Amino acid sequence: MRKINTIGVLTSGGDAPGMNAAIRAIVLTAQHHGISVTGFKRGFNGLLNGEHFQLTECYVRDIIHHGGTVLKSARCQAFTTEQGQLQASEVLNRLAIDCLIVIGGDGSLRGAELLADYWSGQIIGLPGTIDNDVAGADKTIGFATAVNTAVEAIDKIRDTADAFERTFLVEVMGRESGYIAMSVAIACAAEQVLTFESRQLPSQQLASIVNHITNAQKSRGNSSYIMVIAENLWPTGTIELAKELTKQSNIECQPCILGHIQRGGRPVFEDRILATKLGVAAVEASVDGAHLVMLGEVNQSITATPLSKLALEHKTIDTFLFNAQQQIFEYHDFHD
Ligand code: F6P
Repeated sequence: MRKINTIGVLTSGGDAPGMNAAIRAIVLTAQHHGISVTGFKRGFNGLLNGEHFQLTECYVRDIIHHGGTVLKSARCQAFTTEQGQLQASEVLNRLAIDCLIVIGGDGSLRGAELLADYWSGQIIGLPGTIDNDVAGADKTIGFATAVNTAVEAIDKIRDTADAFERTFLVEVMGRESGYIAMSVAIACAAEQVLTFESRQLPSQQLASIVNHITNAQKSRGNSSYIMVIAENLWPTGTIELAKELTKQSNIECQPCILGHIQRGGRPVFEDRILATKLGVAAVEASVDGAHLVMLGEVNQSITATPLSKLALEHKTIDTFLFNAQQQIFEYHDFHD
């Protein structure tokens, strides 16, 4: 096993609250082992362009409570090409990096794996994305904060919805995963949730959504009604769905897209702790010779999953969450 002298670290893809906590933990643990840490800026772009700097204890001292990432983040098309990976490997060799730690979502982690064809150093991934859609990790860094932010926003929407007896469709992020939508809907006592995991196709759902809204209003009297919807779910978009529902139900349905507010903000303690554990674990794993793995917390233990498995395994919503949704929403009978 070769001795690690220098670790490189970068954050890639959608930033996630808690990424700073992971960077801090990596730098402080590395310092403990006498290893220096080089930070690459703007994800894989920094690796291609040689945009880097030394991360010191002083630099990371006060970053744990900030959202975003001090390394900045980006998606990098150029890195997906052979030429890009070759260029990245040259930079890593020139800087004598022994191990590269990539913090990002599944796309970024799979990108990291590609580098192994051109570079002989160790590669370790940490799951950082609000979407919670990475296999091999019960929770990704940033998920808890994003859910919390959305819940706080919807609690506020509930106040005004109650006052005006209004129906709202609130769109939350998640790319192609319903984790945020399902968690937020349960935590906000939303009357309905539409996610990729719903049993019916969106087109088949329209009539039943209209029924649900109208029956709810009939049986409960005028009251607020909140439907949480996963982004990218409705083929024509949430705004069009709201228009269609308004037309068919004769009840005004207001769309509200929460958007990037869910990506920012102070990380909640769960993300700070998860990110710290994973940052420490990543440096320890690098000293132990780990290569081409992602470290995630599974059933309260830090587990290494081969990066090659990430593309093959689709993380599905956990059964308890799914069952809760079915019990509370689908079998909650508003019918007269
Ligand atoms: O992957 C994180 C995420 O915030 C997704 O939930 C969302 O679909 C996407 O990134 C948005 O990406 P961008 O900020 O590039 O528009």
